[in-house]
Amino acid sequence: MRFNFDEMVDRRGFGSVKWDTLGEGTLPMFVADMDFRSSPQIIEALESKIRHGIFGYGQDPELPGIIKKWFQDEYHLSIEEDWILLLPAIVPVLAAVSRLREGPVMITTPNYHVLLAAPAKAGKKTILSPLRNTDEYYQMDFDDMRQRIQPEVRLFYLCNPHNPVGRVYKYEELKELSLFAKERNLIVISDEAHCGLVFDRPHIPFFSVDEYAAQQSISIMGPGKTYNLAGLPFAFALIPNKTLREDFRKTCYTLPQPGILNMAAAKAAYGSSGEWHLQLVDYLRGNRDYFEKALREQFPAAKLTHVEGTYLQWVDFRPLGIADPYQWLKDKAKILPNQGKPFGLEGYVRFNFGTTRARLEEAIGRMQEGLNRRA
Ligand SMILES: Cc1ncc(COP(=O)(O)O)c(C=O)c1O
Repeated sequence: MRFNFDEMVDRRGFGSVKWDTLGEGTLPMFVADMDFRSSPQIIEALESKIRHGIFGYGQDPELPGIIKKWFQDEYHLSIEEDWILLLPAIVPVLAAVSRLREGPVMITTPNYHVLLAAPAKAGKKTILSPLRNTDEYYQMDFDDMRQRIQPEVRLFYLCNPHNPVGRVYKYEELKELSLFAKERNLIVISDEAHCGLVFDRPHIPFFSVDEYAAQQSISIMGPGKTYNLAGLPFAFALIPNKTLREDFRKTCYTLPQPGILNMAAAKAAYGSSGEWHLQLVDYLRGNRDYFEKALREQFPAAKLTHVEGTYLQWVDFRPLGIADPYQWLKDKAKILPNQGKPFGLEGYVRFNFGTTRARLEEAIGRMQEGLNRRA
């Protein structure tokens, strides 16, 4: 079956953060959700629960087995069901988990703004290490990390695939991170929310890199990004080490269980939405190619890197002589992107290209008009 990702679904008036925040004249390209309907399997699973009409506490003993099979199919990795802990979403875990060990948390910048802010919300300090931007892609700067780290740091927050820069780390980089973690006795908290949205090479789950990574990491994943279920939050942590798993369970004890609808959607996502997912990634790859080419051709001075994963394009328009690109996009181009500052890099903007090709074409047109208006 072919899915029609070109369908223009009107989301206004349906309680959407993306579409109901600003008035009709502005094209929203902020916040990370996509303008596509979910897979028919997800919609059917939800309809069946809704028809039943009772929304009490939920459980689904089959879900860990479905996630295990999904790991086998996606990554050819054999995991144990016991390693999987079901969670209400990723965000609430990010602050809670920073209390897992004493001491500050190390994280690279720019980074997903919630990941960056989460330790401070839990009263923890963060040690920031800027990613190195080679103009082709961003990479972790291990020399800088070694210089900045303090002896009492026990936790490192990784975002892979990386929001906002769209990097999908290679095996060698993850191996180097594992060696660094081993040298410093760190636990890596690996936020892999975008793991199903990669375009150029497979995603490598951090825990699979080597034995240290397997024993001293917590991977956090969920269907929110890949299957567009941000409004039905659900996530899981994958923790092969039993002691660490018990520590995590205690630290996250007060988090609620996932809801009954959320679990039904997650089950249909991981269990039976494979064909939809394949076609989605193809469509997004086309969007990535179109948007990158159009930006490079129309705004050659703008600084951008090739997006290897996620549906997020990170751009610096300041080389075009635009002092405040976010404000310029809002006022002159009538586009709302995310501002770079909360991600730790002021001046940049982040566009969401998880939308129809027609809307991306409209965005490029609006930016061109915005530039003309400035002249
Ligand atoms: C890297 C990353 N982690 C987590 C989330 C949010 O996950 P959740 O909706 O499950 O809390 C996002 C949302 O954009 C994200 O980009």
